[in-house]
Amino acid sequence: MSRKDPGVLETKFKAQLCIDGEFRDAADRGTFPIVNPANEKEIGEAALGTVADAEAAIESADRAFASWAEVPAPQRAELLYRVGQMILEQKEELARLITMEEGKVFREALSETMEGYKAAMYYAGEGRRMWSNVVASEQPQKIGFVVRRPLGVALVITPFNFPIATPMWGLAPALVTGNTVVFKPASTTPLIAHRIVQLFAQGGFPKGTVNFVTGPGASVGEALIGSPKVKVVHFTGESATGKRIAEVSSRFLRRQCLELGGKNPLVVARDCELDMTVSAALTSAYSNTGQRCTAASRLIVEEPIAEEFSRKFVATAAKLRVGDGLKPGVEMGPLVTRAALEKTRRYVRIGLEEGAKLLTGGRDYTDGELSKGFFYPPTVFSGTNDMKIAQDEIFGPVTMIIPAKNIDHAIELANDTRYGLSSALYTKDLQAAFKAIWKIDAGVTFINGGPAGIEVSAPYGGIKDSGYGQELGEAALDHYTEKKTIWIEAK
Ligand code: UN1
Repeated sequence: MSRKDPGVLETKFKAQLCIDGEFRDAADRGTFPIVNPANEKEIGEAALGTVADAEAAIESADRAFASWAEVPAPQRAELLYRVGQMILEQKEELARLITMEEGKVFREALSETMEGYKAAMYYAGEGRRMWSNVVASEQPQKIGFVVRRPLGVALVITPFNFPIATPMWGLAPALVTGNTVVFKPASTTPLIAHRIVQLFAQGGFPKGTVNFVTGPGASVGEALIGSPKVKVVHFTGESATGKRIAEVSSRFLRRQCLELGGKNPLVVARDCELDMTVSAALTSAYSNTGQRCTAASRLIVEEPIAEEFSRKFVATAAKLRVGDGLKPGVEMGPLVTRAALEKTRRYVRIGLEEGAKLLTGGRDYTDGELSKGFFYPPTVFSGTNDMKIAQDEIFGPVTMIIPAKNIDHAIELANDTRYGLSSALYTKDLQAAFKAIWKIDAGVTFINGGPAGIEVSAPYGGIKDSGYGQELGEAALDHYTEKKTIWIEAK
């Protein structure tokens, strides 16, 4: 416990490392402070891991692998089930910590916590299945079938924006399939990550199966990805970091799943259910303050409905209640850090300079409660798809309305991006829906939903600069195992 500022909160949180079943400080005992983005107050501290800690975590996972791989999958699943139950029982407390550390409003933190719970349940179920193929042979008295074998040490590197769901999407399938894990969370959200690791320990995961290191990407992250003992990596974060991981991983021909950025189109057809579309667009654009790789950052609207959609969307966006996510009634929290706030401001300036029309927001809170903390108002521009603010991922509460002549033009604009993660079309026209399904270049297309709101049961991953490989659903089982084909003959 830090005693530095006892007046601020009753409790201060502390995230330690977990290596070989032991929760401990960093090798040189360094720490770094964790700040609540809603008020800039320090809420705790985390161990500043070193290269030696990263190496120790990998060694520990490597030692634990052989015996963990031999535990029958249904037994591994049993432990995961317990972790899921603990998440469910402690959901309010976990969600509260997410809001304090990450900033998202409590209601969203709670629903994210439930995503973590669902991942535990889904993959606990898979532990009793692990299905694969049986193959008909060309020969008599011969049969082929496929077994799944774990890969070894799995590295799971997660971002700040879904600090419980994303780790669970990696840890749950990695562990149930028999891999051991080294988990490194974003340096902005180590406290909730540490809580999750504690739950795995309490759930009975043997020592060395779940190792936890916090610290800078440049030292700790590089040491982890540079280790030949890491056999599979699961990364969610920025495209630039993903490319760096891919570069290093290619040296080892290492299995990788990279979930990267997005510039997701939400296409509004002239026949859509307008009020429903406006409200879904608001959620997809501003939940988690726009810090969602699936956020609706381009609202591509058919011209006949553009003015009406724009009027309704802007009016509701302007009314969103911004504030501390723990306060009742607040609908949008702060950005996660000052740097994230600065990035949003910079892109708003760029938008203005390149001639985009600012429809609401776009101004700092200079006085009152919101001038402290990393708050920025919901911001809407209108403009064209070739603008920088329509092409770069801003990762803040900024979206833009882009008019399109018709559905074909809308799909053309939707695809005119270097990203390809999620996408959505709001329409009652089945033909338009089928066009979107087949022609939008993205890993996910929602019809009358999304583009944010991924569910655990189906594979998820982007194309182009949005990523490589898929997570969730059965895709995660494929990611974390290698399939071995067995031929048996009666000779
Ligand atoms: C969602 O939209 O429901 O970082 C989840 C992200 C994604 C998860 C999106 N990895 O935003």
